[in-house]
Amino acid sequence: MKALTNFKNYISLYVRSFSLFWKSSRGSSSVLLFLVPIQALAPAVLIKIAQLMLDELLHGGVSGSLVIWWGIIFFISSVAIPINTSLQGILTDKLIAFVNMQLMQKSKSINGLNLFENADFYDNLQLVSSEASWRPVNLIVFGISMLRELITVISMMALLARYNFWIAIILLLAIIPQSLVSYHIQQDSFETMVTRSPDARKIQYYSEALLTNKDAKEVRLFGMFDFFINAYKSVYKGMHAKMKKVQMKQMWISLAFLAISVILSIASLIWMVTVIRRGQVSAGGFLIFVSTLTATSSSVYAFIENSSLLYDTLLYMQKYFDFMHVKEASDYSGKLPFPDEVQTITYEGVSFRYPGQRIDALKDVSFNVHGGERIAIVGENGSGKSTLVKLLMRFYDPQQGKITLNNMVITKLNISAYRKKLVQFFKTIQNFIYQLVSLLG
Ligand SMILES: Nc1ncnc2c1ncn2[C@@H]1O[C@H](COP(=O)(O)OP(=O)(O)OP(=O)(O)O)[C@@H](O)[C@H]1O
Ligand SMILES: [Mg+2]
Repeated sequence: MKALTNFKNYISLYVRSFSLFWKSSRGSSSVLLFLVPIQALAPAVLIKIAQLMLDELLHGGVSGSLVIWWGIIFFISSVAIPINTSLQGILTDKLIAFVNMQLMQKSKSINGLNLFENADFYDNLQLVSSEASWRPVNLIVFGISMLRELITVISMMALLARYNFWIAIILLLAIIPQSLVSYHIQQDSFETMVTRSPDARKIQYYSEALLTNKDAKEVRLFGMFDFFINAYKSVYKGMHAKMKKVQMKQMWISLAFLAISVILSIASLIWMVTVIRRGQVSAGGFLIFVSTLTATSSSVYAFIENSSLLYDTLLYMQKYFDFMHVKEASDYSGKLPFPDEVQTITYEGVSFRYPGQRIDALKDVSFNVHGGERIAIVGENGSGKSTLVKLLMRFYDPQQGKITLNNMVITKLNISAYRKKLVQFFKTIQNFIYQLVSLLG
């Protein structure tokens, strides 16, 4: 059941990801859409024409039209290769830019800071943004190869089925468990990579501490080099052990499946030889059977390899789509314009607790500020001064109580206009606090 939902998920992610090709470049995508099937069908068509030629040859002479057809198809399928490669290159460039711009646009649309406080969301965002420059390359290369190999496999099966329906079916059935196991392993390795992401963050921090100018002074002053190098070593060891296990498993399973498909191919070849002995199949038929069998198994292998390599990228795409569709808990749809004049700002019984925290940063805070009035917010470290301003700026919304401006709840105001105006106010408060802090030492 899980495998099935995984499979459905795989297909839907595949289709959704392909729609990004279209969005990022209509021109290249449509030419590719036309060329890929031509390239994929060519091997089967060439084998079929060769068979017809051979059968004709054995019964006299070859007709010129078959030779011409063979030439035309061979020419088109060869020409399609460099065109495909260049188009994929162009599309890759456009897709990378498209994905990155979408990510930036999405970030622009996130108004609050709540999401960034969520460790899972933040880890995913880091992964999505750091891999956005190369994942689209894999999506195009593996995604298109997989489609091409699939069409080739199906066309080869159609040829094989004319000789022995069951051989075609058995070969087809052999693909399914093999693909599922490969996807499963690929998922394992992706999860290892993602769940290790706190570890990845740690080792990045350790190396940055020694290699950037940020901590250069402290590290030298306190002789921290060996401490960070050893910490790096121990985290790396754990991460590497996990990855190695997954990779070894992958190798053994691939070998096992490869052995099964070789045995299947040999068995079907033996079957074919007995059929020929009985004189049921022509020499041309034998040629087509052997070429189809070898072409099918290499395409099946390429299909499984490409689709399992793609799986990794589709799991990445899942995280990309999750980010693109993430919704904020706070409502930023307020439409009211900012008033011409600020008469009062009021906090009424405001309580606020940061996400994942056990205690309130602000508890039942009420006060009133009038336009033109100067106030000082004084309190010890951690008493909630900055939090007051963050709520006013709507980086967060209070869980209880409300903040009003001229008696309008601030959530009703258009957020971008509101922030633009308040930024002046915010700067004044910050400057004031900084001045105060430097005065007090
Ligand atoms: N992003 C956050 N996530 C969780 N807790 C936070 C976060 N920001 C602040 N806090 C906590 O909320 C409380 C209030 O912090 P706040 O920064 O508002 O205090 P402050 O009065 O501005 O302190 P300071 O004088 O040091 O600037 C503190 O306990 C702080 O640790
Ligand atoms: Mg502060």
